[in-house]
Amino acid sequence: MTQSTAAPQSHEGAHAEPCIITIFGATGDLTMRKLLPAIYNLTRDGLLNENTVVVGFARRPKTDEQFRAEMLEGVNKFSRNKPTDMAVWEKVAAKLFYHQSTFEDAAGYEKLAQRFQELDKKYNIGGRRLYYLSTSPSEFTSIIDQLGNAGLGNIDPFSAKAWRRVIVEKPFGRDLDSAKKLNTEISHVFDESQVFRIDHYLGKQTVQNMLVLRFANGIFEPLWNRNYIDHVQITVTETLGVEGRGPYYEVSGALRDMVQNHLMQLLALTAMEPPVSLDGDAIRDEKVKALKAIQPLTKEEVCRRTVRGQYTAADIAGKPAKGYREEERVNPKSETETFTALKLFIDNWRWHGVPFYLRSGKRMPKSGSEIVIHFKNAPGVLFSAHDNKLANNTLTLRVQPHEGISLRTNAKTPGTVSRIAPANMEFQYEVAFGSYSPEAYERLLLDAILGDPTLFIRDDEVENAWKIIDSIEAGWAAGAPPITFYPAGTWGPPEADTLLTREGRAWTPLGS
Ligand code: BG6
Repeated sequence: MTQSTAAPQSHEGAHAEPCIITIFGATGDLTMRKLLPAIYNLTRDGLLNENTVVVGFARRPKTDEQFRAEMLEGVNKFSRNKPTDMAVWEKVAAKLFYHQSTFEDAAGYEKLAQRFQELDKKYNIGGRRLYYLSTSPSEFTSIIDQLGNAGLGNIDPFSAKAWRRVIVEKPFGRDLDSAKKLNTEISHVFDESQVFRIDHYLGKQTVQNMLVLRFANGIFEPLWNRNYIDHVQITVTETLGVEGRGPYYEVSGALRDMVQNHLMQLLALTAMEPPVSLDGDAIRDEKVKALKAIQPLTKEEVCRRTVRGQYTAADIAGKPAKGYREEERVNPKSETETFTALKLFIDNWRWHGVPFYLRSGKRMPKSGSEIVIHFKNAPGVLFSAHDNKLANNTLTLRVQPHEGISLRTNAKTPGTVSRIAPANMEFQYEVAFGSYSPEAYERLLLDAILGDPTLFIRDDEVENAWKIIDSIEAGWAAGAPPITFYPAGTWGPPEADTLLTREGRAWTPLGS
């Protein structure tokens, strides 16, 4: 196993302070599947302060005991460490509470403030509060307003140690205007330095490793530009369908659900210039510059450079799978895309003329997230007599599954005949460093508690990403290109392949 040195963004030496984490929308899926398992695992790994209190805030009446029992079920089912260590769970449960209120009711927040005071005194919290907005986005503004009205947004003037931070779940707006509006509303109660917009892709190991790969190695950066790179592919696919999330997905679609946030973040980290330091704002400044260099698409470009598809009913491995239009609470004539492929350009000195192909879809044959950098071909002068066309070099950053990096080179096959075949050099996290891999939400929750915003999205990042998405949505709203269909369990409509093949390129299969 490889010896590790401290990565620049690790929090070695940083100590989590006592705080109260309040989860708004605590009876939702995310709390049970991700947030409580993350808190349990952070406690298990000794990364949280002993005096970390968690309050679940939601509408349904429930006692603390009922809430604890439900959350234990979530931990048992979804934690990466099984079976649950009951001694650790008891520690979490002892400081886990439930607060019933609607999100609009001022009295509910006054009671919450009282409860905070009691808990603060009992556990010596020092006025530190982390609010987690895990509700439907339509509730975000009420919650922020009510926190402000109840005096829970700003810092207690009597305490120098106190802090207030708010984590906002996605989707952050549904277009540029609504995102701007939400940013403004939040800014009435919280300063930008207190706002942590979450994108769980930034909590994944390989995504964080992109900065290390690019800027802690000398060999990649000199090649990382239009002189050596032919094009870049970013693929994020899932075998799952919409899984009962019809009403959300109907107004979202693959472009808003995946591209605006996760794929744009992967693209920004791939394309950004070296930051002046590892400081959160220095990194985010460079990501914003990369996003700003992507020109919004004209209607004509949307038609030529984007594909939108929707899955239809098919048999997958002998089992019938529904089409999107047959899914629960989905319009039977829905035009919502469950797949999209795009070709974007980053109009700056480094990337001029290099296409970035993005694709994301549900009900694909495989789940996986990869960034593939395709380098330009070696000159064909020496090996042109070979029967096979030489493969170009590719560098694949595998975000999931089996996080790692792979470099495709050409090699001579064994034997007396001189043949050339592609061969991969592989780095796999689990092989090099063992299988320990914290979940994205663990890393992100801890960062928010430590006050490190590096892996969260800043207001200008979210707005610049929306500008590009809005231009595509505008083209689609005008009907071009029309939606096309693909059978569930396939790699999207044929148009997605044509986007590349007409330029002599092809999608790199996932995991190859
Ligand atoms: C979420 C999307 O943000 O990401 C879901 O809303 C999607 O539709 C999920 O399934 C994918 O996340 P992951 O970590 O499983 O790739």
